[in-house]
Amino acid sequence: MSTLKIHHIGYLVKKIEKAKQTFETLGYVTKQDTVYDEIRKVHICFLQKDGYCIELVSPASEDSVVSGLMKKLKNSPYHICYEAADPEAAYRELTADGFTAIDTPTPAPALDGRRVVFLMSPVIGIIELLLD
Ligand code: NI
Repeated sequence: MSTLKIHHIGYLVKKIEKAKQTFETLGYVTKQDTVYDEIRKVHICFLQKDGYCIELVSPASEDSVVSGLMKKLKNSPYHICYEAADPEAAYRELTADGFTAIDTPTPAPALDGRRVVFLMSPVIGIIELLLD
């Protein structure tokens, strides 16, 4: 497997501004203000602490990509995003290794339009891979 590096941890929250304030109380620093991702219909905000990057993801409407997950998981971390020196190779290896793409590679407005893909493992759940 190509070497993967953790880029961020995705964290589902119902109320993004209140969640941001609460993370700031815990010592997190806002890295990027809240962005609306109209493809996925979510609000996104990146925070940082001790070298860890947390991505707050909040459904903007009932038809957002995370509305179902929000109902099931409530406020909680739900994916780890990875980057790879050779993302296309990593993508091929992951899919050969039991991960199934659960969406198509799509630009992420909150990540300067870099393309990402979400994959599902029957063993560890959802991961995200940066493709650019
Ligand atoms: Ni993410």
